[in-house]
Amino acid sequence: FQVDRGNYRHFMAKEIHEQPEVIGHTLAHYLDLTAGCIRLPVTPSFDWASLDRLSIVACGTAYYAGLVAKYWFERLARLPVEIDVASEFRYREPPLPKNGLALFVSQSGETADTLAGLRYCKAHGQHVAAVVNVPTSSIAREADVVFPTLAGPEIGVASTKAFTCQLAVLASLAVAAGRARGHLGIDDEKRLVRALGDLPGLVVKTLRLEPRIVRLAREIAKVEDVLYLGRGSSYPIALEGALKLKEISYIHAEGYAAGELKHGPIALIDEVMPVIVIAPFDAIFEKTVSNMQEVAARGGRIILFTDSRGAAAASVPTLETIVLPDMPSEIAPLVYAVPVQMLAYHTAVLMGTDVDQPRNLAKSVTVE
Ligand code: G6P
Repeated sequence: FQVDRGNYRHFMAKEIHEQPEVIGHTLAHYLDLTAGCIRLPVTPSFDWASLDRLSIVACGTAYYAGLVAKYWFERLARLPVEIDVASEFRYREPPLPKNGLALFVSQSGETADTLAGLRYCKAHGQHVAAVVNVPTSSIAREADVVFPTLAGPEIGVASTKAFTCQLAVLASLAVAAGRARGHLGIDDEKRLVRALGDLPGLVVKTLRLEPRIVRLAREIAKVEDVLYLGRGSSYPIALEGALKLKEISYIHAEGYAAGELKHGPIALIDEVMPVIVIAPFDAIFEKTVSNMQEVAARGGRIILFTDSRGAAAASVPTLETIVLPDMPSEIAPLVYAVPVQMLAYHTAVLMGTDVDQPRNLAKSVTVE
C-alpha cells in the first residue's frame, strides 16, 4: 500500500473507495469460497462451543463495529454478548465468567482505554482476542489471539475502511462460532460465506450512488441537526452515520434506535431537521416503517436508505429514497456503512472543513 492520496482530494475519499479491494483482501484470509466455509487465519486459543459469554470492548467507530457484531454473535451463534466502550468497561470492574472470551476491536491497536480493558480481562482469566489493523501494535502483542483486518494504513482521522474490514472479520468469526456451537449447519455456512464473498461487488455498486449522495449532501450542509435512525443491526450504522457526520462536518447529529424515537427524539421532529433512516428490507422493516410514519405525521423530512423491496414496501413520503442493491440482511450493515460515510464526507467538503484532520480529534488516542 502506498500512502499517498492518489487522485483523490482527501485520504478519506481514497479510503472510502478502497473498500471493495480491502474488504476482499481481508475476507480472502477468512473465507474458503471454493469449499464454502470459514477458514480462520489463526487457530483460536479457545473453543467457541464452550464459551459462556463474549465481552466486546472498543472505542469510537470500532465500538460500533462491535455493536453490529453483538447482533451477529447472538443471532448466528446464540452466544451471549456484553459490549461496552472501553473507558466505561475498565472502571466498572465488571465480573467476568470463567469461560469468557474478551474481544478487543481497534484500528490502531494503541487506544489507551482499550488496552487497559484488555489487561483487565487478562488479569481476570478471560481468553483474550483482538481484531486489529496494525499487527505490531500493543493490543496485537498482548492478545492471546489476533484476527487481523487487512485494511492497509488508514490516514483519515475518521475511520472508514478499517470499520468495514472490522465488520468483515467479525462476521466471519460469528459464522465460525455459529458452526462450532451447532447453531448453523453446513448449508447455512455456505449461504453466509457466499454472501460475504459478494461484499466487494456490492460495495462497488453502492459506491456508484455517489452522485446522488453529493446532491443529498447539499441539503445536509444547510442544517444544524440531523437524526439517524435504525433498528437491529442497522442501529449501530445509524450511530456510526451520526458519528461520521459530527466528526468531520461539525453538524450536530444523533443516532437512535428507531424504536426509541417515541421516548425522546420525536420531540425534535420539525420541517427542518433531516431524519436519515437506515432500513434494508429485513424481518423488522415494517417496525421501522411505523417509526417513519410517526416522523412523517409530524412533517419531518425523511431520507431513506433501503433496497428495492424496502422502497416498494415503505408507504411513507420521503424527501429522498436511496436504493441500495438487494442483499441478504446479515451482510447489510457492511454495505449500508458506505453511503453514510460518503454523505459525511461530501457534507464536510461542502462545509470546507479539514476533512482528514478534523479539529480536536486524533487518529489514535494513546492517552486517557
Ligand atoms: C479515535 C479515532 C476514531 C477511532 C477511535 C478508536 O477516536 O478518531 O476514528 O474509531 O479512536 O480507535 P482505534 O484505533 O482503537 O480503533
